Amino acid sequence: LALGKKFGVLAGKRLVISAGGTHEAIDPVRFIGNRSSGAMGFGLAAAARDAGADVRLIIGAASATPPLGTQHIYAESAAAMQAAIEHAIEQGCDMLIMAAAVADYRPVSVADNKIKKTEQGDQSLSLQLTHTTDILASLKERTGFVKIGFAAETHDLEQYAQAKLTRKGLDAIVANDARTALGASDNAVTVFSRDGQRWNFARQAKTELAQQLIALFSSFLRR
Ligand code: CTP
Ligand code: CA
Repeated sequence: LALGKKFGVLAGKRLVISAGGTHEAIDPVRFIGNRSSGAMGFGLAAAARDAGADVRLIIGAASATPPLGTQHIYAESAAAMQAAIEHAIEQGCDMLIMAAAVADYRPVSVADNKIKKTEQGDQSLSLQLTHTTDILASLKERTGFVKIGFAAETHDLEQYAQAKLTRKGLDAIVANDARTALGASDNAVTVFSRDGQRWNFARQAKTELAQQLIALFSSFLRR
């Protein structure tokens, strides 16, 4: 660890890494969430730390344990995560890795009081949802740091991942199967870069995979 700080490939580099899902409040006790555990982002943070990086870890809703030796910043909702990431980038950033599963929609309004089923008067309850800000897309014009995104897909993985890479102005995107990646301890991914390269990583523990991904991403800092 101490040796990595001085001599690792990421020595002197600042990384901002988001991990976990988000919770979008419905009322004081309920939220809309997803299956992300934080394991992939935490693995990347640990690997970056071991490579000598100064890691700001933006943590959403996560069930896994964040690694020691990284700075932990908690941000439960998509809006809180956006603010935390902007703040972290202001403080200096060589690379942003968005491993978090950020909600795409949130309730239009959050009820002040717990919603009572007896007061709904009907068999059904409708929630009106509105778009959250796409954090990565909002940073499209911001330069000076490497941007890595993730793409969680259930079908047409390559086409959707390539479209996100371009639309969000990323250096690279890590494409994975949303059915098996979220909440699991292992993962298989394909990385696509802006300049048309691709790398396949076989299914393995997220901790191992994270080390290989960090080695690859480190090379993006030098080109
Ligand atoms: N992302 C983000 N802000 C959002 C939603 C997603 O920054 N509000 C980021 C994710 O962290 C990820 C990348 O964008 O790095 C792709 O997320 P994904 O959910 O796969 O794609 P979306 O663009 O949200 O499209 P969709 O969910 O419809 O496939
Ligand atoms: Ca999404």
